[in-house]
Amino acid sequence: MEKSKVLVVGGAGFIGRRLVAASLAQGHPTFVLMRSEIGVDVDKVQTLLSFKAKGARLVEASLDDHAGLVAAVRQVDVVVSALSGTYIRSQVKLVEAIKEAGNVKRFLPSEFGMDPSKMEHALAPGRITFDDKMEVRRAIEAASIPHTYISCNCFAAYFCPNLGQIGTLLPPKDKVRVYGDGNVKVIFVDEDDAATYIIKTLDDPRTLNKSIYLRPSENILSQSDLIVKWENLSGNVLEKIYIPADEFLASMKDKDFGNQFVMGHIYHIFYEGCRTNFDIGEDGAEATLLYPEVEYTRMDDYMKRYV
Ligand SMILES: NC(=O)c1ccc[n+]([C@@H]2O[C@H](COP(=O)([O-])OP(=O)(O)OC[C@H]3O[C@@H](n4cnc5c(N)ncnc54)[C@H](OP(=O)(O)O)[C@@H]3O)[C@@H](O)[C@H]2O)c1
Repeated sequence: MEKSKVLVVGGAGFIGRRLVAASLAQGHPTFVLMRSEIGVDVDKVQTLLSFKAKGARLVEASLDDHAGLVAAVRQVDVVVSALSGTYIRSQVKLVEAIKEAGNVKRFLPSEFGMDPSKMEHALAPGRITFDDKMEVRRAIEAASIPHTYISCNCFAAYFCPNLGQIGTLLPPKDKVRVYGDGNVKVIFVDEDDAATYIIKTLDDPRTLNKSIYLRPSENILSQSDLIVKWENLSGNVLEKIYIPADEFLASMKDKDFGNQFVMGHIYHIFYEGCRTNFDIGEDGAEATLLYPEVEYTRMDDYMKRYV
């Protein structure tokens, strides 16, 4: 079967550049949106040029230029967005362009974390992410655009080697803050694997208009499981400081916006178990079961580079 043509939006970002690589690796003619606002961001220009060198086509357009976006979207069959932050809401403009173009067989909005439809109760201010993602879903569904929503759970780089600690991406050296009893199950995913699974869904009729969850069974681990894995790898036993939920929530109050944002997400993941506390329903499927041929990375292997 001929592979669909894919446009990646937000391709220079953390997950976006992995999506471009996975799309090329899986043989899709790959297009990357080069936003006109790129200015003098030299790293971004270099990253985009590196995609071109690997066979991707750069398509220049701005999210604020409807006609340009429609023209970009008309060149492809599938649009995958990996925009972040305040740009998540801007995807509504992309939805409008896809609607007008009328040729897109599948749109994957930028989700790739927790399923926003399961986060109605989320704490402010971190809930903005989920609210914005839900607004984009409503626009997609109102325009009857074929879609796939992907929940990647925790990207390892952000949550695994730091053992869930806030304000660092590196393993702690002496002490580790343990959330509650440390036994709530969390799901960790290597971000390169996430991109591989995401691209696999694009031409798959089983994932049309569905929510796909990445739940690699050997990466469903509690914070305590993760700490033991790191202690075994590093040969360094850490002092554990247990933080009860009420203490954690109380400590959020005097923090700035950014810290409150992150702490809210940490609370839902490590205290509430929002990655694992629901079953996948009939409108969903699990990626490692759909694509058993993918050899996913286990977290012991992932953490070896940090020793
Ligand atoms: N599962 C997890 O653990 C996890 C972790 C992090 C993120 N996520 C999710 O993954 C998705 C993508 O996140 P990411 O971390 O890959 O995104 P990112 O690297 O922060 O940014 C992605 C792209 O968004 C655009 N962008 C965002 N902020 C911008 C700004 N201030 N100025 C200019 N451009 C900006 C850029 O697009 P251009 O390339 O067009 O310039 C950028 O390359 C989001 O939906 C996010 O919620 C999940």
